[in-house]
Amino acid sequence: MHKLLTVCLMLMIRNIFGKQYVAGTSMTRLMVVAGARPNFMKVAPIMKALERRSGLFEVTLVHTGQHYDDQMSAVFFNELGLRSPDIALDIGSGSHAEQTGRTLMALEVTLIKHRPDLVIVVGDVNATLAATLAAKKLKIAVAHVEAGLRSHDPTMPEEINRVLTDRISDFHFTTDHFADSNLKREGFSEKSVHRVGNVMIDTLLTYRDRAARSDILDRLGVKTRGYALATLHRESNVDDPENLARLLSAFVQLSKTLPIVMPLHPRTEKRLDTSGLKGLLASSRVMLISPLGYFDFVKLMDMSCFVMTDSGGVQEETTVLGIRCLTLRKTTERPITCEVGTNMLIGPDPAAIMKNALPLVSNTARQDSAPPLWDGYAAERLALVLERRFDARSLSAA
Ligand code: UD1
Ligand code: UDP
Repeated sequence: MHKLLTVCLMLMIRNIFGKQYVAGTSMTRLMVVAGARPNFMKVAPIMKALERRSGLFEVTLVHTGQHYDDQMSAVFFNELGLRSPDIALDIGSGSHAEQTGRTLMALEVTLIKHRPDLVIVVGDVNATLAATLAAKKLKIAVAHVEAGLRSHDPTMPEEINRVLTDRISDFHFTTDHFADSNLKREGFSEKSVHRVGNVMIDTLLTYRDRAARSDILDRLGVKTRGYALATLHRESNVDDPENLARLLSAFVQLSKTLPIVMPLHPRTEKRLDTSGLKGLLASSRVMLISPLGYFDFVKLMDMSCFVMTDSGGVQEETTVLGIRCLTLRKTTERPITCEVGTNMLIGPDPAAIMKNALPLVSNTARQDSAPPLWDGYAAERLALVLERRFDARSLSAA
């Protein structure tokens, strides 16, 4: 009877304060949300840093299901040692409104049920914004990891997601001084901004040696520095068949000098299928392949002559690997990579591709540099901030 009363009392306290009481102390309840490929590399080190503090934090991992193919999701859970999600929402694909709306609705139910003290979101995908909105409308605090990045291009869905997520987040974890300045200019309190470094680079540095053992070069029949690596998936580059055709024609032209390996994002693969543009590449040395697992992809970046991309994460990873990167966009939210010097923002322009790529074929020197705090310990710094802020006894997230 006494035992039953104690359990009832604990449940009542938990319901009132949204906390779980263990051995006389309270656990802070964190919910980490991931949905799309680049999110998994970001949440992996965060999960590990939080799980190292298992006496303080109780962590729930949610996968929204924005990306769902094995090669866009499961492969990263396996390779990066991420535990299976506690909650899988299976949202899937759709228009922006459908995908964001469905995630928002499903997360609201999840949040009401679990009542975390803090929701942690990463990056700039639809899952990031939906989780932030759902949490804040329920008066649950949000931490945005990779806050403050700005392309200043309001037509990018990712820019909308970043700006709105930052606006209502309580913690802004930033990667570099550009992000800090953006947030300062936008009027955020300095108290909310914590420059911890780059969690995606934590993952890169953790797995670089493992990736070096991948046999992907042999499987593709390419040699170290004997190929360029290309990825494309931005709406602006691949959804309009004319833009896509221009970029592919430049790749075909360049591949006369150097083979190009191109792992195809499913968005791009679908556009190639529906537009019939695959024919453009026939008998060229542009090798279209399926999306790769992390180890294979990192090895391909690391051993490439140079990289051409519109990916955000790849601009950062090539910077740390010291591999030259040509970014096929008009803007970047990651200007630090250009400041360091590995990245060149050349636009989605065929003439610029030829002009800038050809000199790189004969100059394969690496650049050895990385921005401050891109050192493998960003997630640990982030966890320390949360540890200090969420005093186990105070129940306050302020
Ligand atoms: C999303 C993000 C983008 C990020 C990219 C990382 C938004 C607005 N965009 O773009 O910022 O850089 O992820 O890769 O959140 N598809 C599959 N299988 C999958 C996932 C997607 O076939 O596992 C196909 C579907 O046809 C889908 C399309 O790819 O409609 C696009 O997927 P979606 O998540 O909407 O956008 P991404 O282009 O992947
Ligand atoms: N990546 C991968 N396999 C691929 C392409 C990319 O593992 O075939 C990794 C890459 O190393 C980086 C992340 O996926 O860690 C970047 O994701 P993506 O380019 O899809 O998204 P973005 O960073 O542009 O949001």
